[in-house]
Amino acid sequence: MAVRAAPTDPLAPDAEQLLAAMDSSRERTLALVAPLSDEQLERVHSPIMSPLVWDLAHIAAYEDLWIGHRLGGLRLMRPELAALYDAFETPRAVRGDLELLDAPAARAYLVEVRAQAFEVIARTGIGDGLIAEMVLRHELQHTETMRQTMAIGGLLAAGDRPAALPGSSGWLAVPAGRVQIGAPDEGFAYDNERPRHEVELGAFVIARLPVSNASWMHFSEGGGYERREWWSAEGWAWKEEYDISHHPAVATGDPEAPVCHVSWFEADAFARAHDARLPTEQEWERAATSEQPAQQLLGVGSVWEWTSSHFLPYPGFRAHPYKEYSEVFFGEGYRVLRGGSWATHERVATPSFRNWDLPERRQIFAGVRLARREQA
Ligand code: AVJ
Ligand code: FE
Repeated sequence: MAVRAAPTDPLAPDAEQLLAAMDSSRERTLALVAPLSDEQLERVHSPIMSPLVWDLAHIAAYEDLWIGHRLGGLRLMRPELAALYDAFETPRAVRGDLELLDAPAARAYLVEVRAQAFEVIARTGIGDGLIAEMVLRHELQHTETMRQTMAIGGLLAAGDRPAALPGSSGWLAVPAGRVQIGAPDEGFAYDNERPRHEVELGAFVIARLPVSNASWMHFSEGGGYERREWWSAEGWAWKEEYDISHHPAVATGDPEAPVCHVSWFEADAFARAHDARLPTEQEWERAATSEQPAQQLLGVGSVWEWTSSHFLPYPGFRAHPYKEYSEVFFGEGYRVLRGGSWATHERVATPSFRNWDLPERRQIFAGVRLARREQA
């Protein structure tokens, strides 16, 4: 067995790589908000999203909690801000009503916390590296959330959307079999990806490409939002209450690009209208980890892909390192998305990563890949 030195040396290569990744992640965050005015950062663009300035200060508060306080044993730099920037104690809907740090103060908080976090790491190293990796990925995840807010506010650059993919490439047939699902015990993964476990899957077929804007417009213009039989009872009720039709981005997007900004309810109706269904998250993971080139999915990483699965713990789940990352969201309320979008950093978008949201949500960069039980 190979023995790996524990990274106790502050200058261990692992720590150096992590610091470099944290630096470039921060550059990416600051580049995203650089073109925005303080007013655009402080404004509430949508009742379901935080003001962008909340995300900035929250990134700082999370880094201070986990690196300064938990890893370094220091007091919080700004204990009076802890509750305000705790996602669970201060939900999105109320963040616009609170006295938040203004944009210059949020930027200053990011700088102060980062300086202290790097001092801690220089002094104590990164231990097994898992907490620091979590902090890094937390910032990367929030920059995607911020892009969702910016999309709603009309603040994204013109090219910030899914690119066209090659025309239809048909279906992949996946034979029945037992497969391993989830992240192995070693290395970084979120608690909800563990433990890795075996499941038995029936044979299924899955589209090589996600559904395009052109197909979605065809569905919409062909009465997709009027045919009751294609919708679930809950989906129909939601559609009627909010008078939903296709998202404006579907009509203005490249016809050959994957459809984006569809809710789970719409994805489910679209699948039924095509005599198909959404893949389960296990089917998706199985298809996404195929080692044979002829069996590989195309278009992964352009839009998140809704699955039919509820966000539930894997058998033997243990919350780590805190319950509010996953555990508090488990249940029938949320649906799982897999893959990643054009806005997801590759460090986050692993084949076992589980994203989740409510079935009516359209702010995420989410589309659809169809599956069927039988051979197409
Ligand atoms: C995994 C994207 C659903 O934004 O609620 C950010 C990620 N967790 N801060 C979310 C997350 C804590 C999470 N999602
Ligand atoms: Fe967060």
